[in-house]
Amino acid sequence: MSTLIVKESGVGIGAEIVGVDIDRLLHDEDLPNAVLEALEEHGVIFFREINVDDDTQVKFARRLGELVKFPDVPPAAEEIMEVSFDPANGNAEYLAANAFWHIDGLTDPIMAKASILTGRVLSETGGETEFASTYRAYDDLSDEEKERFSKYEVIHTFEMNQRTAYPNPTEAQLEEWASRPERRHPLVWEHESGRRSLVYGISSSEIVGMDIEEGRALLNDLVARATTPDKVYQHKWSLGDMVIWDNTGLLHRVLPFDRTKPRVMNRTTLVGREPIK
Ligand code: OGA
Ligand code: MN
Repeated sequence: MSTLIVKESGVGIGAEIVGVDIDRLLHDEDLPNAVLEALEEHGVIFFREINVDDDTQVKFARRLGELVKFPDVPPAAEEIMEVSFDPANGNAEYLAANAFWHIDGLTDPIMAKASILTGRVLSETGGETEFASTYRAYDDLSDEEKERFSKYEVIHTFEMNQRTAYPNPTEAQLEEWASRPERRHPLVWEHESGRRSLVYGISSSEIVGMDIEEGRALLNDLVARATTPDKVYQHKWSLGDMVIWDNTGLLHRVLPFDRTKPRVMNRTTLVGREPIK
């Protein structure tokens, strides 16, 4: 019975799914496919104030695919990562980089397919989450750029990811960052679907074979072009919202907020299947 009713944001990505309640999330047979299709089409979709608890979030997420486990971070459930900048959260240091345009997991063996984020404690001001399409980023290139960039490879490092958030790292930080493997990905990802997207963000360290500063300047310029306000879907959170984004075709970031006050989002992540090539 699942034909989803969507309200598009008007910027080409981002759509609200209306008329779905928790019963349908958990029991509507056709809903998982419809949600995955909407995700492919709109990049980021959301259910306003649906107010799922952890158990429902995980049960719903399992209907969409295999879930990433977060055994190292004290979890509400093994498949839930608390996204919070509270120093008591084991992940807080790492999460500081969320404030910059990024794709999750570019230094992982295979990056995550999608994430489901629910707003549990909101910041009083700021703390919106922004999304920009990396498919559109590719489509908007000139023909000459499409041709030239098709040969580029980019090195992604955990250190780059963290450096912007911590410009003056301690020895311990440097050592920990260096222990993480770097990854090399093509700048242009030709997806199995046939669509092409750009692969870059805060973790991009250099373009292989290019002067480091020149490569960084080019990547920064490409991110800037892809994230002009007319191309960005900005999610202004209401308590209980559930947002799902396609990590394979979007950049995202969180806007500034008062970090001395709590902001807690619970994240469930779908395992990625498709290598970047
Ligand atoms: C993330 C992330 C942004 C936010 O969970 O990967 O970048 O708004 N979150 O909390
Ligand atoms: Mn992220």
